[in-house]
Amino acid sequence: MLLMPNILVTGGAGYIGSHTVYQLQRQGFTVSVIDDLSKGHSASVPADALHVCSLFDHPQLVALMRSGRIDAVIHFAAFISVGESGKEPEKYFHNNTAGSMSLFAAMAEAGVRKLVFSSTAAVYGNPTQVPIPETAAIQAVNPYGESKVMVEKVLDWLDTARGVRSVRLRYFNACGANNDAGLGERHDPETHLIPLILRAVRTGRPVTLFGDDYPTPDGTCIRDYIHVDDLASAHIAAVNYLLGGGATAAFNAGTGRGYSVREVINAVERVTGKEVPHTIGPRREGDPAQLVADSSKLRQTLDWQPRHSTLEEIVESAWVFENRNFA
Ligand code: UFG
Repeated sequence: MLLMPNILVTGGAGYIGSHTVYQLQRQGFTVSVIDDLSKGHSASVPADALHVCSLFDHPQLVALMRSGRIDAVIHFAAFISVGESGKEPEKYFHNNTAGSMSLFAAMAEAGVRKLVFSSTAAVYGNPTQVPIPETAAIQAVNPYGESKVMVEKVLDWLDTARGVRSVRLRYFNACGANNDAGLGERHDPETHLIPLILRAVRTGRPVTLFGDDYPTPDGTCIRDYIHVDDLASAHIAAVNYLLGGGATAAFNAGTGRGYSVREVINAVERVTGKEVPHTIGPRREGDPAQLVADSSKLRQTLDWQPRHSTLEEIVESAWVFENRNFA
């Protein structure tokens, strides 16, 4: 029998992590998850795969990597709130940057040299060119983005010094749900646009649009919304690429198509058949007018395509999840 690779997933009980664990297991990979459950949900991962463990627990990490004969690590575990990172930068540099260093030290000790890393479009700050290619300037404008830039830089040195091959996936806007798996977005507090719009429809309490005076066709911000299952499949393509001997690289994980906040509202009204109660508020600090990926490198190098990322499918899946889990 063909031996399938063993994958360690950090933050596997979180939103994108749990969808990736689900796909990895369905494809036959042997998966071990570590999660400290500070944000993740134990119910999102099969109990026999989950190890409740901190990124800073060096002995347990090394033991897990050795006993699980880990071939590659997918590293999701991180805090993700841009706004919070501006108020509590230490928390972000500690958890996201120092936590990654702790993980990499354990990988070095256990001899694991392949890593898929969750990076972000926030590494580009306020881009001067849209769609954004991977060669655009790296110029984070908040501690969250900077915490990821620092890890990307360290990974370059680990490649040179230790032969660690890594793929950094720079996520655009993850959204949607996998209702067959019972998985979806459960952030607390929720700050993301699509679940907040759906909550407004369900409860009748208006969602606030952060600004309608941006230099975009309808004045609201444009983002590249990617279904979480498409993001998960990009991780599997990245793992296969590294296991096949692929070199260290960064890829934008987006669809290449942007939608404005108003276009998202229109899509929600089409899917739910209900009006979205909303008000217009001031701009949110740090929001670039447009973030859209040039995703041609991911498509070509990893032979990846988004299969679920039409706005309709994203909103439909998130609407089913919202009603099943929050009504
Ligand atoms: N928005 C509103 N009202 C809300 C929430 C959001 O109008 O109540 C708008 C935002 O201003 C933005 C768009 O909806 O224009 C999307 O906002 P999200 O908060 O859903 O997502 P972001 O684009 O701010 O953030 C995402 C990820 C971050 C990542 C960032 C990359 O969630 O982790 O993309 O820049 F860092």
